[in-house]
Amino acid sequence: MNPFKKAYCRIYQKVFYLASFFLPFQAKPVYEGDKGIAKMVERLSLRHFRRPMVVIDPVVEQTGLSAPILEALVKAKMKVASYNQVTPNPTLDGALELAYEYEKKCCDCLIAIGGGSTIDLAKAAGIAIVYPKKPLAKFKGVLKVHRRIPYFVAIPSTAGTGSEATLAAVVVDAKTKDKFQIDDPKLIPDMVLMYPHLLSQLPPKVVAATGMDALTHAVEAYIGHSNVFSTRRDALKAVTMIHASLLDFYARPSDENKAREMLFASYYAGRAFTRAYVGYVHALAHGLGGLYNVPHGYANAVLLPIVLKAYGKKAWRKLAHLADAIALTPSDYNDQEKAASFIAHIEKMNAAMGLPRQFDHLIQEGDLDLLSTRAEKEGNPLYPVPRIMSRQELKTLLKRSDVTWGVR
Ligand SMILES: [Fe+2]
Repeated sequence: MNPFKKAYCRIYQKVFYLASFFLPFQAKPVYEGDKGIAKMVERLSLRHFRRPMVVIDPVVEQTGLSAPILEALVKAKMKVASYNQVTPNPTLDGALELAYEYEKKCCDCLIAIGGGSTIDLAKAAGIAIVYPKKPLAKFKGVLKVHRRIPYFVAIPSTAGTGSEATLAAVVVDAKTKDKFQIDDPKLIPDMVLMYPHLLSQLPPKVVAATGMDALTHAVEAYIGHSNVFSTRRDALKAVTMIHASLLDFYARPSDENKAREMLFASYYAGRAFTRAYVGYVHALAHGLGGLYNVPHGYANAVLLPIVLKAYGKKAWRKLAHLADAIALTPSDYNDQEKAASFIAHIEKMNAAMGLPRQFDHLIQEGDLDLLSTRAEKEGNPLYPVPRIMSRQELKTLLKRSDVTWGVR
């Protein structure tokens, strides 16, 4: 890549890194289990919230697993409104509809029960509620939300996206098919409730994809250039917990101890990347999600080992730290050997959960230019990756990730 462009990317990333010290990343209260439900209700009551809008994933609603949460709100004499029109990729129109319902039912706070789509839909609706006259598409990008959104509780029903900890909402403009991110610290939920019981009926496929999404968040944050002490600590915690729990949780999603571990791992990974960013795995996966509707975590799982290998020696030292954190290799291995073992370990985890090494004729030859251009635009100059890559290199990685262009 052109050295001037590389220098520009690094300077841009440094400015954002320095600016992050002035942004409000304070820790928010996190409660868990049945006691956590009581705490949540008590805290909402103390703040005089009486009319929550509960945004709930329709599948979670159907299982009835969220009943204790809803009953506790009703028992506290709250007038609960609910909204379940949540789609896998939340749209701007969906957010506007939710905001309309919120106003119509005179709600005073938001509670999202579901995966990343549900939490992101509530975040986007929160913006529409406080900016009723401004089109939501205008908030695309970083630091555009200048008003506080309604008080917001996130209750994740999957362990992976980390949206309960992040400043991001990913939404789709259905008219232009543009899938974009709104990033602002005002979108970080005010309170998080971890209720492992909600995860007890997750299909193993969802456990695998969301778990690998969480691992990707932690790894991409850790190997990037924009870490501070807390993001390093959170990413390491997440990698260790995922290593210890994901395969067991995949084998038995009803194991609530493992569900709890994965919920917290996902939360820590979310906290790490919301300040330290992700990298090219996400930049490439977002394009595949937008064009072919592949689940985000599944795309990340396939791309993670491929992208980590492509970073080469620039990532060895930090990948070696991650290998050490999970005691993967003998201590006399050098960084290169440790990094290779860590990447091989990710491939083994994928294989153990039925995730493939490559996509099976997913990527169309005619889309390679568009996909690599979008990935380059998303990654550069923002993501503080170990090695900055050009559009051409990203195109090569896309080819490596699909059997169409040969088996790895
Ligand atoms: Fe992700």
